[in-house]
Amino acid sequence: MRKLTIAIDGPAGSGKSTAAKRVAQLLNYDYIDTGAMYRAVGLAALGAGVRLDEAARVEEIARGTRIELRWADGRTRVWLDGREVSEEIRRAEAAQAASVVSTVPEVRAILVRRQKEFATHGGVVMEGRDIGTVVLPQADLKIFLTASSEVRARRRADEMAGRGEAVHFEQMKEEVIERD
Ligand code: DC
Repeated sequence: MRKLTIAIDGPAGSGKSTAAKRVAQLLNYDYIDTGAMYRAVGLAALGAGVRLDEAARVEEIARGTRIELRWADGRTRVWLDGREVSEEIRRAEAAQAASVVSTVPEVRAILVRRQKEFATHGGVVMEGRDIGTVVLPQADLKIFLTASSEVRARRRADEMAGRGEAVHFEQMKEEVIERD
């Protein structure tokens, strides 16, 4: 049977990664966490001492670093130029850096090209905010997931608390509404 390409889009905290992982496990497909790629570029830029507002330098980092993703046993592991960063990319600094580098159009173009390559043979569930629109407009199945700001803030807060980070639910809710 032909293996499908599945795109899952939606805002932060809508549950898209939970849904994407379950679908990938059920179908025995590869799962591509595109947010992890932006986090890896953010981390690489921080590690190189590059100022995140220097778009040209951030672009060089994105172009010059090798990002490997491996999905196995229900989790994504990530390597940056051969060094495992699976845990580091989940920290708040990496999330903040990712949100800045993801605004650089050249960085997006570089990562989008790689993401398209990952999907060429199908059998992929790819998740991120631009997957159905920009990365895989021809996907066999496109899902746009959303949830109320309350639920999304709760999910983000739980994720952070699970990593041992300090969280303020009300502040999280304001951030979610602001981002919308
Ligand atoms: O989903 P996440 O928190 O791991 O995403 C990290 C950052 O990258 C976040 O600021 C959203 C951004 N991102 C993006 O711009 N496009 C994607 N396809 C995936 C993530």
